[in-house]
Amino acid sequence: MGRRLGFTAVGATLALTLAACGGEGAGGSGGAGSGDSDDLTIGVSMPTQTSERWIADGENVQEQLEAEGYEVDLQYANDDIPTQSQQIDQMITEGADILIIAAIDGTALAGQLENAAANDIPVISYDRLIRDSENVDFYVTFDNFEVGVAQGTALLRGLGLQNEDGSPGTATGPFNIELFAGSLDDNNAFFFFNGAMSVLQPLIDNGTLVVKSGQTDIEQAAILRWQQETAQRRMEDLLTSTYNDGSRVDGVLSPYDGLSRGIITALENAGYGPTIDAANPMPIVTGQDAEIASVKLIQDGVQSSTIFKDTRLLAEQAVIAASAFAEGDEPEANDTETYDNGVKVVPSYLLPVVTVFADDIQAELIDTGYWTAEEVEAGQAD
Ligand code: BGC
Repeated sequence: MGRRLGFTAVGATLALTLAACGGEGAGGSGGAGSGDSDDLTIGVSMPTQTSERWIADGENVQEQLEAEGYEVDLQYANDDIPTQSQQIDQMITEGADILIIAAIDGTALAGQLENAAANDIPVISYDRLIRDSENVDFYVTFDNFEVGVAQGTALLRGLGLQNEDGSPGTATGPFNIELFAGSLDDNNAFFFFNGAMSVLQPLIDNGTLVVKSGQTDIEQAAILRWQQETAQRRMEDLLTSTYNDGSRVDGVLSPYDGLSRGIITALENAGYGPTIDAANPMPIVTGQDAEIASVKLIQDGVQSSTIFKDTRLLAEQAVIAASAFAEGDEPEANDTETYDNGVKVVPSYLLPVVTVFADDIQAELIDTGYWTAEEVEAGQAD
């Protein structure tokens, strides 16, 4: 906290901010227009510390903002919606000049954003789109539909239906698969699922893939708050209801590594595995975020793949966007069509994503400095 400027005391920050803004309002892009980053406070609201990606996001954003000379107020909300609302309200009261928010429930923050707009505070939606509000000024994220496409494609590759170059694989199926989706209050969950289904649906239609439970709607596949335990329970229920006739599940579409670990635990408890190569093979399970525990599972042949989203680059884009607002400019978007939040299309900056199988861990995750070889070996961050 406050590593560069050496203090985070609310009173001092408030005094600085008010001075910078000439006492008009509690901050805002008017004041931000001074371009003097040392006088500006940026509120960073993150959803939870239970997933390491959000811890990394928070740290990266904080470090990079502080390196630019901004004061940072970073808060995590324990996946609790009232906590996040209250934290954002407090940031506004304490004079934040710009807000960067990764929402828990993307539909629950309209009131906070109205308050921000009334105080001329630009709002950057981080990774997850804030919905139903005209007061979202910019969105930095990854190409979320492509994440889903990559997950669907990784499932096909894992099953041997497709080769790395996109050509048909040697397997023919039919394969039994089950589908998982993220939290329905997270706009991203729909992009991931729709992206994956754009790849899988044609093969479901022609019988190559069989969703044996029949649960193909996102509402049936969704896991509230992306909880690992909930995913484990749903997988257990699916195994009991659908696979107690001697049939086996061959693949599972999972949108997030935490869910994948819950799913894998349920499968292990039912006698699958331990690896994809075992006599009773672990089904092909996809993932997302390259969480260290899952990278280890991929290295060990338990989980098949993950989608790597370099949170360092996302943090960088958030900082670039915040700096633009600080100078009274509009950040540069590379997508002005995709992200309609129900009230307006939010100008966005989308980053590309990378699929990681065991063979890709070295080049994509270790050589890039995201994880060390030792961390992968241990399955935990240093
Ligand atoms: C993020 C994913 C993450 C998921 C669960 C989504 O909004 O885009 O990277 O896996 O939330 O935290």
